Amino acid sequence: MIHAESLTKAYPMGSRTLMALDAVTFHIAPGEYAAIVGPSGSGKSTLMHLLGCLDSPTSGSYRLHGRDVSSLSSDALAKVRGEEIGIDFQGFQLIPRLTALENVALPMVLCGTPPAERLARAEALLQRVGLGNRLQHKPAQLSGGQQQRVAIARALARDPAVLLADEPTGSLDPRATKDVLTLLDELHHEGRTVLLITHDMEVACRADRQLEIAEGKLIRDSKS
Ligand SMILES: Nc1ncnc2c1ncn2[C@@H]1O[C@H](COP(=O)(O)OP(=O)(O)OP(=O)(O)O)[C@@H](O)[C@H]1O
Ligand SMILES: [Mg+2]
Repeated sequence: MIHAESLTKAYPMGSRTLMALDAVTFHIAPGEYAAIVGPSGSGKSTLMHLLGCLDSPTSGSYRLHGRDVSSLSSDALAKVRGEEIGIDFQGFQLIPRLTALENVALPMVLCGTPPAERLARAEALLQRVGLGNRLQHKPAQLSGGQQQRVAIARALARDPAVLLADEPTGSLDPRATKDVLTLLDELHHEGRTVLLITHDMEVACRADRQLEIAEGKLIRDSKS
């Protein structure tokens, strides 16, 4: 499903180069539930942006579903992203002036789903994550754990084969963390490929496999 080969992201910083990601190689099979774990600043979000087709690597290759996506134009990347990948961003990135329902429906606007259909699907997704009674709430009117679940529902809007969740439990209390991890378990059991990105090893251990990164390098893969 995901083939990352020597993925590298370098940022020129004055006369030096910051290696946010340094030759990271791993493969994720379809339907796998894996965690990418590492301390703050280790390159997790950088890796998620590459895997999520939000950015292109400086070097290395990335094949998704057998297709090399590492050198696609940004328009082509956006298309792949919309069709194959659901992204739950660190910090949610919900649109403040839209309701929960509208936030979840938004990705379907971009692909031309008719209004009635996208609202029905958004409602079903919000029900699925336990927020059927918060459809008309705006993000600021929701708790952190509720916003996180709206963000996961939005990531599922286009029924992606791959779900990338960046620190989905980062700002949650133990109870809300448990709810989100249970939801990720369910999504995995439905057959989705799930990548959980976290700084917390205990959270990472909920996944079947742990890929540890430090200073931009993959330092351990529990599968190998
Ligand atoms: N656009 C950028 N320009 C320069 N450096 C960057 C850029 N984006 C990220 N970095 C650097 O790359 C490194 C990795 O950042 P990244 O956001 O991937 O870390 P992270 O593992 O997600 O951290 P956190 O757990 O705090 O979210 C950091 O040292 C960061 O300062
Ligand atoms: Mg991050």
